[in-house]
Amino acid sequence: MTEPKEPIGSSPGAAAPGPASGAAQGGPPAIVTVGLTRRFGTFTAVDGLDLTVPAGSIFGLLGPNGAGKSTTIKMLTTLLPPTGGTARVAGFDVVGEPAQVRRRIGYVPQLVSADGSLTAYENLMVMAKIYGVPRAERRDRVLQVLEFMGLSDVAHTLVSRFSGGMVRRLEIAQSMLHRPAVLFLDEPTVGLDPVARRSVWEHIQRLRSDYGTTILVTTHYMDEADQLCDRVAIMHRGRVVTVGTPAELKAAVGPDATLDDVFAHFTGSSIAEGGSYRDAVRARRVARRLG
Ligand SMILES: Nc1ncnc2c1ncn2[C@@H]1O[C@H](COP(=O)(O)OP(=O)(O)OP(=O)(O)O)[C@@H](O)[C@H]1O
Ligand SMILES: [Mg+2]
Repeated sequence: MTEPKEPIGSSPGAAAPGPASGAAQGGPPAIVTVGLTRRFGTFTAVDGLDLTVPAGSIFGLLGPNGAGKSTTIKMLTTLLPPTGGTARVAGFDVVGEPAQVRRRIGYVPQLVSADGSLTAYENLMVMAKIYGVPRAERRDRVLQVLEFMGLSDVAHTLVSRFSGGMVRRLEIAQSMLHRPAVLFLDEPTVGLDPVARRSVWEHIQRLRSDYGTTILVTTHYMDEADQLCDRVAIMHRGRVVTVGTPAELKAAVGPDATLDDVFAHFTGSSIAEGGSYRDAVRARRVARRLG
Protein backbone atom coordinates (compact mmCIF):
# COMPACT_ATOMS: atom_id res chain seq x y z
CA MET A 1 0.00 0.00 0.00
CA THR A 2 1.40 3.35 -1.04
CA GLU A 3 1.38 6.04 1.59
CA PRO A 4 0.99 9.74 0.86
CA LYS A 5 4.44 10.95 -0.07
CA GLU A 6 3.83 14.64 0.31
CA PRO A 7 2.47 16.51 3.29
CA ILE A 8 -1.28 16.78 3.19
CA GLY A 9 -1.25 20.38 4.51
CA SER A 10 -3.80 21.90 6.85
CA SER A 11 -7.01 23.36 5.55
CA PRO A 12 -6.82 27.14 5.50
CA GLY A 13 -9.46 27.83 8.14
CA ALA A 14 -8.64 24.87 10.32
CA ALA A 15 -7.81 26.78 13.51
CA ALA A 16 -11.25 26.86 15.11
CA PRO A 17 -13.29 23.77 15.94
CA GLY A 18 -16.43 23.32 13.92
CA PRO A 19 -17.87 21.71 10.83
CA ALA A 20 -15.51 21.01 7.95
CA SER A 21 -15.93 23.68 5.31
CA GLY A 22 -17.68 22.74 2.12
CA ALA A 23 -19.18 19.58 3.56
CA ALA A 24 -22.71 20.79 4.17
CA GLN A 25 -25.41 18.43 3.02
CA GLY A 26 -27.20 19.66 -0.07
CA GLY A 27 -24.15 21.58 -1.38
CA PRO A 28 -22.16 20.59 -4.46
CA PRO A 29 -21.21 16.90 -4.53
CA ALA A 30 -18.10 15.96 -2.56
CA ILE A 31 -16.91 13.52 -5.23
CA VAL A 32 -17.71 13.36 -8.93
CA THR A 33 -16.04 10.92 -11.29
CA VAL A 34 -16.65 10.76 -15.03
CA GLY A 35 -15.35 7.77 -16.92
CA LEU A 36 -12.63 7.28 -14.32
CA THR A 37 -10.33 4.51 -15.53
CA ARG A 38 -7.15 2.81 -14.37
CA ARG A 39 -5.28 0.27 -16.44
CA PHE A 40 -2.29 -1.78 -15.31
CA GLY A 41 -0.70 -2.90 -18.58
CA THR A 42 -3.48 -4.57 -20.52
CA PHE A 43 -5.60 -5.16 -17.41
CA THR A 44 -8.32 -2.63 -16.60
CA ALA A 45 -8.79 -2.43 -12.82
CA VAL A 46 -11.24 0.50 -12.89
CA ASP A 47 -13.29 0.79 -16.03
CA GLY A 48 -15.10 4.04 -16.80
CA LEU A 49 -16.43 4.81 -13.34
CA ASP A 50 -19.23 7.39 -13.12
CA LEU A 51 -19.93 8.20 -9.48
CA THR A 52 -21.45 11.11 -7.59
CA VAL A 53 -21.10 11.25 -3.81
CA PRO A 54 -23.33 13.88 -2.14
CA ALA A 55 -21.62 16.20 0.37
CA GLY A 56 -22.18 15.18 3.96
CA SER A 57 -23.13 11.60 3.11
CA ILE A 58 -21.73 8.23 4.10
CA PHE A 59 -21.16 6.41 0.82
CA GLY A 60 -20.32 2.71 0.69
CA LEU A 61 -18.17 1.28 -2.10
CA LEU A 62 -18.84 -2.45 -2.12
CA GLY A 63 -17.65 -5.30 -4.31
CA PRO A 64 -15.81 -8.62 -4.33
CA ASN A 65 -12.04 -8.88 -3.92
CA GLY A 66 -10.32 -7.30 -6.88
CA ALA A 67 -13.37 -5.27 -7.95
CA GLY A 68 -11.30 -2.08 -8.04
CA LYS A 69 -12.36 -0.38 -4.80
CA SER A 70 -8.90 0.38 -3.43
CA THR A 71 -7.65 1.41 -6.86
CA THR A 72 -10.55 3.87 -7.06
CA ILE A 73 -9.71 5.28 -3.62
CA LYS A 74 -6.04 5.62 -4.56
CA MET A 75 -7.01 7.68 -7.60
CA LEU A 76 -9.42 9.84 -5.58
CA THR A 77 -6.74 10.50 -2.95
CA THR A 78 -4.22 11.46 -5.70
CA LEU A 79 -1.91 8.53 -4.87
CA LEU A 80 -2.37 6.87 -8.26
CA PRO A 81 -2.86 8.74 -11.54
CA PRO A 82 -5.90 7.70 -13.59
CA THR A 83 -5.23 6.43 -17.09
CA GLY A 84 -8.56 7.85 -18.28
CA GLY A 85 -11.53 9.97 -17.26
CA THR A 86 -11.72 12.64 -14.58
CA ALA A 87 -12.42 12.95 -10.88
CA ARG A 88 -13.15 15.96 -8.70
CA VAL A 89 -12.90 15.72 -4.91
CA ALA A 90 -14.08 18.58 -2.65
CA GLY A 91 -14.41 20.65 -5.82
CA PHE A 92 -10.89 20.08 -7.20
CA ASP A 93 -9.52 17.94 -9.99
CA VAL A 94 -7.36 15.05 -8.74
CA VAL A 95 -4.93 15.36 -11.65
CA GLY A 96 -4.86 19.13 -12.22
CA GLU A 97 -5.12 20.28 -8.59
CA PRO A 98 -3.76 17.45 -6.42
CA ALA A 99 -2.44 19.71 -3.64
CA GLN A 100 -5.88 21.32 -3.24
CA VAL A 101 -7.47 17.88 -3.05
CA ARG A 102 -4.95 16.61 -0.47
CA ARG A 103 -5.55 19.57 1.79
CA ARG A 104 -9.22 18.64 2.03
CA ILE A 105 -9.10 14.89 2.43
CA GLY A 106 -8.21 12.29 5.02
CA TYR A 107 -7.29 8.71 4.16
CA VAL A 108 -7.15 5.52 6.20
CA PRO A 109 -5.55 2.84 4.00
CA GLN A 110 -6.63 -0.78 3.87
CA LEU A 111 -3.54 -1.95 5.74
CA VAL A 112 -2.53 -0.81 9.19
CA SER A 113 -0.56 2.44 9.19
CA ALA A 114 -0.09 3.42 12.87
CA ASP A 115 3.36 2.91 14.39
CA GLY A 116 3.27 0.36 17.20
CA SER A 117 6.52 1.55 18.75
CA LEU A 118 5.04 4.98 19.56
CA THR A 119 2.19 5.96 21.88
CA ALA A 120 -1.14 7.15 20.48
CA TYR A 121 -0.20 10.72 21.40
CA GLU A 122 3.17 10.44 19.66
CA ASN A 123 1.62 8.92 16.52
CA LEU A 124 -0.85 11.80 16.37
CA MET A 125 1.83 14.46 16.91
CA VAL A 126 3.80 13.01 13.99
CA MET A 127 0.73 13.03 11.77
CA ALA A 128 -0.25 16.57 12.86
CA LYS A 129 3.13 17.69 11.60
CA ILE A 130 2.77 15.79 8.33
CA TYR A 131 -0.72 17.23 7.84
CA GLY A 132 0.66 20.73 8.37
CA VAL A 133 -1.25 21.58 11.56
CA PRO A 134 0.48 24.72 12.91
CA ARG A 135 2.90 23.93 15.74
CA ALA A 136 1.04 26.10 18.29
CA GLU A 137 -2.17 24.17 17.69
CA ARG A 138 -0.82 20.62 17.50
CA ARG A 139 -1.15 19.63 21.15
CA ASP A 140 -4.73 20.88 21.49
CA ARG A 141 -5.75 19.32 18.21
CA VAL A 142 -4.23 15.98 19.17
CA LEU A 143 -5.97 16.01 22.57
CA GLN A 144 -9.22 16.91 20.84
CA VAL A 145 -9.15 14.01 18.36
CA LEU A 146 -8.08 11.58 21.10
CA GLU A 147 -11.15 12.67 23.06
CA PHE A 148 -13.37 12.49 19.98
CA MET A 149 -12.32 8.93 19.19
CA GLY A 150 -12.55 7.81 22.83
CA LEU A 151 -8.79 7.30 23.25
CA SER A 152 -7.92 9.90 25.92
CA ASP A 153 -7.35 7.26 28.59
CA VAL A 154 -4.78 5.41 26.48
CA ALA A 155 -3.09 8.48 24.96
CA HIS A 156 0.27 7.54 26.46
CA THR A 157 0.06 3.79 25.91
CA LEU A 158 2.24 2.16 23.25
CA VAL A 159 0.10 1.37 20.19
CA SER A 160 1.61 -2.13 20.07
CA ARG A 161 -0.50 -2.82 23.16
CA PHE A 162 -3.75 -1.61 21.56
CA SER A 163 -6.58 -3.89 20.43
CA GLY A 164 -7.42 -3.89 16.72
CA GLY A 165 -10.43 -1.63 17.25
CA MET A 166 -8.34 0.90 19.15
CA VAL A 167 -5.72 0.95 16.37
CA ARG A 168 -8.39 1.60 13.77
CA ARG A 169 -9.87 4.40 15.89
CA LEU A 170 -6.40 5.89 16.24
CA GLU A 171 -5.92 5.78 12.47
CA ILE A 172 -9.24 7.53 11.95
CA ALA A 173 -8.15 10.11 14.57
CA GLN A 174 -4.97 10.65 12.52
CA SER A 175 -6.94 11.16 9.34
CA MET A 176 -9.19 13.83 10.89
CA LEU A 177 -6.46 15.97 12.51
CA HIS A 178 -6.69 18.59 9.77
CA ARG A 179 -10.52 18.43 9.69
CA PRO A 180 -10.88 17.11 6.17
CA ALA A 181 -14.08 17.71 4.22
CA VAL A 182 -13.87 14.24 2.67
CA LEU A 183 -12.62 11.11 4.41
CA PHE A 184 -11.66 7.87 2.65
CA LEU A 185 -11.76 4.74 4.79
CA ASP A 186 -10.63 1.54 3.06
CA GLU A 187 -12.06 -1.39 5.04
CA PRO A 188 -11.93 0.33 8.44
CA THR A 189 -13.42 -2.68 10.23
CA VAL A 190 -11.71 -5.66 8.58
CA GLY A 191 -10.57 -8.23 11.12
CA LEU A 192 -12.36 -6.55 14.05
CA ASP A 193 -14.77 -8.23 16.44
CA PRO A 194 -18.41 -7.06 16.43
CA VAL A 195 -18.00 -4.75 19.43
CA ALA A 196 -14.94 -3.06 17.95
CA ARG A 197 -16.70 -2.75 14.58
CA ARG A 198 -19.65 -1.07 16.22
CA SER A 199 -17.41 1.37 18.06
CA VAL A 200 -15.54 2.31 14.87
CA TRP A 201 -18.84 2.89 13.11
CA GLU A 202 -20.26 5.00 15.93
CA HIS A 203 -17.25 7.26 15.64
CA ILE A 204 -17.56 7.43 11.85
CA GLN A 205 -21.20 8.47 12.23
CA ARG A 206 -20.27 11.13 14.77
CA LEU A 207 -17.71 12.54 12.35
CA ARG A 208 -20.46 13.04 9.85
CA SER A 209 -23.01 14.43 12.31
CA ASP A 210 -20.61 16.71 14.26
CA TYR A 211 -18.40 17.93 11.42
CA GLY A 212 -20.44 17.29 8.27
CA THR A 213 -17.59 15.18 6.90
CA THR A 214 -18.34 13.27 3.70
CA ILE A 215 -17.22 9.68 4.16
CA LEU A 216 -16.44 7.18 1.43
CA VAL A 217 -15.98 3.76 2.97
CA THR A 218 -15.35 0.27 1.63
CA THR A 219 -16.46 -2.81 3.51
CA HIS A 220 -17.13 -6.48 2.93
CA TYR A 221 -19.73 -6.48 5.70
CA MET A 222 -23.10 -6.01 4.02
CA ASP A 223 -24.94 -5.57 7.33
CA GLU A 224 -22.69 -2.60 8.13
CA ALA A 225 -23.23 -1.04 4.74
CA ASP A 226 -26.98 -1.55 5.02
CA GLN A 227 -27.28 0.11 8.40
CA LEU A 228 -24.77 2.88 8.06
CA CYS A 229 -24.45 4.04 4.46
CA ASP A 230 -26.80 6.60 2.93
CA ARG A 231 -25.92 5.29 -0.50
CA VAL A 232 -23.91 2.36 -1.79
CA ALA A 233 -22.35 1.48 -5.12
CA ILE A 234 -21.53 -2.12 -5.95
CA MET A 235 -18.44 -2.57 -8.12
CA HIS A 236 -17.69 -5.67 -10.10
CA ARG A 237 -14.66 -6.11 -12.35
CA GLY A 238 -13.90 -2.41 -12.37
CA ARG A 239 -17.42 -1.20 -13.09
CA VAL A 240 -20.25 0.13 -10.98
CA VAL A 241 -23.04 -2.38 -11.50
CA THR A 242 -25.62 -0.66 -9.32
CA VAL A 243 -25.90 2.40 -7.10
CA GLY A 244 -28.58 3.73 -4.76
CA THR A 245 -29.78 3.75 -1.18
CA PRO A 246 -29.65 0.33 0.49
CA ALA A 247 -33.47 0.36 0.58
CA GLU A 248 -33.71 1.08 -3.15
CA LEU A 249 -31.28 -1.66 -4.07
CA LYS A 250 -32.99 -4.23 -1.85
CA ALA A 251 -36.43 -3.33 -3.21
CA ALA A 252 -35.15 -3.71 -6.77
CA VAL A 253 -34.00 -7.28 -6.12
CA GLY A 254 -37.01 -8.58 -4.20
CA PRO A 255 -39.47 -7.91 -1.40
CA ASP A 256 -37.44 -9.64 1.33
CA ALA A 257 -34.00 -9.13 -0.19
CA THR A 258 -31.03 -8.33 2.04
CA LEU A 259 -28.00 -6.38 0.87
CA ASP A 260 -26.22 -9.75 0.68
CA ASP A 261 -28.83 -10.80 -1.90
CA VAL A 262 -28.27 -7.56 -3.81
CA PHE A 263 -24.53 -8.24 -3.78
CA ALA A 264 -25.01 -11.79 -5.04
CA HIS A 265 -27.48 -10.63 -7.67
CA PHE A 266 -25.15 -8.04 -9.17
CA THR A 267 -21.80 -9.79 -8.82
CA GLY A 268 -22.84 -13.40 -9.27
CA SER A 269 -21.13 -14.35 -6.03
CA SER A 270 -21.97 -14.23 -2.38
CA ILE A 271 -19.64 -12.67 0.15
CA ALA A 272 -19.46 -16.10 1.75
CA GLU A 273 -18.01 -17.78 -1.34
CA GLY A 274 -16.45 -14.89 -3.26
CA GLY A 275 -13.00 -14.39 -1.87
CA SER A 276 -13.64 -15.90 1.53
CA TYR A 277 -10.18 -17.40 1.57
CA ARG A 278 -8.43 -14.18 0.64
CA ASP A 279 -10.59 -12.35 3.13
CA ALA A 280 -9.80 -14.78 5.89
CA VAL A 281 -6.09 -14.71 5.15
CA ARG A 282 -6.09 -10.95 5.05
CA ALA A 283 -8.21 -10.61 8.18
CA ARG A 284 -5.78 -12.88 9.99
CA ARG A 285 -2.82 -10.95 8.64
CA VAL A 286 -4.39 -7.67 9.76
CA ALA A 287 -5.31 -9.21 13.12
CA ARG A 288 -1.68 -10.32 13.57
CA ARG A 289 -0.38 -6.85 12.74
CA LEU A 290 -2.88 -5.33 15.13
CA GLY A 291 -1.75 -7.74 17.82
N1 LIG B 1 -0.22 -1.88 -8.88
C1 LIG B 1 -0.94 -2.83 -9.50
N2 LIG B 1 -0.46 -3.51 -10.57
C2 LIG B 1 -1.19 -4.44 -11.21
N3 LIG B 1 -2.44 -4.79 -10.86
C3 LIG B 1 -2.98 -4.16 -9.81
C4 LIG B 1 -2.27 -3.14 -9.07
N4 LIG B 1 -3.09 -2.69 -8.09
C5 LIG B 1 -4.23 -3.39 -8.20
N5 LIG B 1 -4.17 -4.26 -9.22
C6 LIG B 1 -5.24 -5.18 -9.64
O1 LIG B 1 -6.40 -4.42 -9.86
C7 LIG B 1 -7.54 -5.15 -9.42
C8 LIG B 1 -8.32 -4.32 -8.44
O2 LIG B 1 -7.58 -4.24 -7.22
P1 LIG B 1 -8.11 -3.44 -5.97
O3 LIG B 1 -7.07 -3.54 -4.91
O4 LIG B 1 -8.55 -2.11 -6.39
O5 LIG B 1 -9.39 -4.31 -5.57
P2 LIG B 1 -10.34 -4.18 -4.31
O6 LIG B 1 -11.72 -4.05 -4.82
O7 LIG B 1 -9.83 -3.14 -3.39
O8 LIG B 1 -10.19 -5.63 -3.65
P3 LIG B 1 -10.15 -6.11 -2.12
O9 LIG B 1 -11.58 -6.26 -1.71
O10 LIG B 1 -9.45 -7.43 -2.18
O11 LIG B 1 -9.41 -5.09 -1.33
C9 LIG B 1 -7.03 -6.47 -8.85
O12 LIG B 1 -7.14 -7.46 -9.84
C10 LIG B 1 -5.59 -6.16 -8.55
O13 LIG B 1 -4.79 -7.34 -8.64
MG1 LIG C 1 -9.11 -3.14 -1.47
